[in-house]
Amino acid sequence: MTVLEVLQSTTAYFQKRHIESPRLNAEHLLAHVLGRKRIDLYLAFERTLPESELTPLRELVRRRGAGEPLQHLLGTIEFCGRTFRCDKRALVPRPETELLVEQLISRFKSKIANSCMIDVGTGSGVIALSLAAEFPKAEVVGADISEDALSLARENAERLGLADRVRFQRSNLLENIQPGFDLIAANLPYVSTEDRPNLSREVLHDPEVALFAGARGDELVQELIARAPSWLQPGGLLALEIGIGQSEALISALAEKNYRDICNEKDYSGVTRFLFARYG
Ligand SMILES: C[S@@+](CC[C@H](N)C(=O)[O-])C[C@H]1O[C@@H](n2cnc3c(N)ncnc32)[C@H](O)[C@@H]1O
Repeated sequence: MTVLEVLQSTTAYFQKRHIESPRLNAEHLLAHVLGRKRIDLYLAFERTLPESELTPLRELVRRRGAGEPLQHLLGTIEFCGRTFRCDKRALVPRPETELLVEQLISRFKSKIANSCMIDVGTGSGVIALSLAAEFPKAEVVGADISEDALSLARENAERLGLADRVRFQRSNLLENIQPGFDLIAANLPYVSTEDRPNLSREVLHDPEVALFAGARGDELVQELIARAPSWLQPGGLLALEIGIGQSEALISALAEKNYRDICNEKDYSGVTRFLFARYG
């Protein structure tokens, strides 16, 4: 079979299996097996693939068709212009979360560039490591309750040459962490346990501890809002990614706890997804 024929038959197979963006998935997997860039496939449509390339491709196509996330099969993901290792130890980072990092860089750069910051629920470390790379003078901590996630985050720190700049620590929220942060950023689990039946096959490959917080979904974010003041420097910033429909209750919680300068931002689909507030 040629490259073009393989792409066509894989796309048709993914369509039947209700995989979103079937052609794009087929291209990513074939490029991965060939060790090429996706764009290079377009220059090699007529190339015949030997069995030694078709066999590993068939296995990946089968797994993708069964709902394994593309990023787990590729083993990496691009986040804010950097390549991170990605596997079942932590949540597959989402494009919305890049917006959280971009907001912090564009809106708060002058206030946080030389500061002390923590990413609570760091997962694969994408927020902590992106901020550390962006702000070379910042002191950065990544905290997570999951040892699996922390081991992936540490590997990512090594890969990006940031291992001596970011300290990863096991903690239930801020429990084991010394206070004194200018920024607390968090993308904590915010899916309601009641929403489990509505999740896609792909999402169900993320670790449970990365998805669910309780029956409402915002329980952990609420707890962080309540606790963060004792860990923030006066005037310190809390930056949160939140779930659909959670903004009203969480903004009220911030106001009740006497945070100030409370503001929100939407994600690419117009959902209020991020909250920012200062304390003290
Ligand atoms: C939605 S994932 C986000 C991961 C990463 N920050 C990202 O944006 O891709 C939430 C993370 O919070 C961690 N987590 C869950 N409960 C926690 C808790 N009580 N304290 C600290 N981390 C927690 C999970 O292990 C998971 O890595």
